[in-house]
Amino acid sequence: MELKGKRIALGVSGGIAAYKAAELVRLLVKQGAEVQVAMTEGASHFITATTFQALSGRPVFTDQWDQRMPNAMAHIDLSRQADLIVVAPASADFLARVAHGLADDLLATMVLARDCPLLVAPAMNRQMWENPATQRNVAQLRADGVGILGPASGEQACGEIGAGRMLEPEEIVDSVLVFFTPKLLAGRRVLLTAGPTFEAIDPVRGITNLSSGRMGYALARAARQAGAEVTLVSGPVALPTPAGVERIDVKSALDMQAAVMARATASDIFIAVAAVADYRVTHAAEYKLKKDEGGPPAFELVENPDILASVAALENGPFCVGFAAESHNLEAYAQAKRQKKKVPLVVGNLIQDGFGGDDNRLVLFDDHGVHPLAPASKAALARQLIEHIAHLTGIH
Ligand code: CTP
Repeated sequence: MELKGKRIALGVSGGIAAYKAAELVRLLVKQGAEVQVAMTEGASHFITATTFQALSGRPVFTDQWDQRMPNAMAHIDLSRQADLIVVAPASADFLARVAHGLADDLLATMVLARDCPLLVAPAMNRQMWENPATQRNVAQLRADGVGILGPASGEQACGEIGAGRMLEPEEIVDSVLVFFTPKLLAGRRVLLTAGPTFEAIDPVRGITNLSSGRMGYALARAARQAGAEVTLVSGPVALPTPAGVERIDVKSALDMQAAVMARATASDIFIAVAAVADYRVTHAAEYKLKKDEGGPPAFELVENPDILASVAALENGPFCVGFAAESHNLEAYAQAKRQKKKVPLVVGNLIQDGFGGDDNRLVLFDDHGVHPLAPASKAALARQLIEHIAHLTGIH
């Protein structure tokens, strides 16, 4: 419910992507937003008002002469009741009308009369998008402070391939979340590690840790939403890259260390969430090991470098945050790790509380004491942790 209490006016203009606006309404409502849909006459050729009304739980407005508002001023009332107006899809024609300040239908009038920010998600044929007239209009809208979301590139409804596809509803929701998140880390560079590492034994086998990467990815996303420039050094996981985050894929602890050390001094905050394998095989076999080659193989192991401790030891290094995933004695082990690695903040969690799932329970250990956070989703905990880090680093 990251958008609880937020009032969003969703404008839908005419284009085949209008069918995706239904999913957008569903996702926004699921996040707790109050969504008021206004659509153009053109949009009603692609999708009906009934669909939006059912999904938003509110009457839909199309006509500027609508009698339902007691003062007959739907355009004023709808924009005054919104914290944000999002137009998705925004057709070439709609962008042109807004760029020129036209007020020839309810949605355009509402946008012109707004006193809140406006985000638009363009959707059109690639030639229409590339047309200098559209590009001029988009440049004008940007200059006027309108947020332009996308468009994406890919296969189009007309069969052509190029830029002009509307962003997916999930991506638009993400932009809305970014819009509403306080920019506690604006201008800060955050570096994170996430996921497991994989230490090869032979070309197909290796030593690894159980780690879904979800907590690290949730933190990368929350840091990005808080306005930071985020680089995520990730071990092998099956997760999509959070929007706006630079992701560097690595496999082994040594690769992860190299990627981190190359960026550590340029970062303001380093958050080590990765479950790094403590040991690697001294000499990985070049060829696949075979069972009939003299029984069970024996491996010589060597300890991997401690990436977090190495960053914490840097002169002028970033503010460091470590994680301690324990099965018992959480406080004692977490505090011991904090001292040993010399990091100001360690985030402890019991393995049985969070492993692999969507929820977690975290306890923060810092110079000021012990701060247990109430059990919550990894996304919500990530936001609280980013807030805590922003306070500790004296940014806010
Ligand atoms: N870490 C790291 N590099 C390593 C090992 C751990 O950066 N080679 C980081 C992890 O990302 C995490 C913290 O250090 O932030 C975990 O500390 P660690 O003591 O290594 O955890 P465990 O391996 O679980 O330690 P132990 O087996 O002693 O419990």
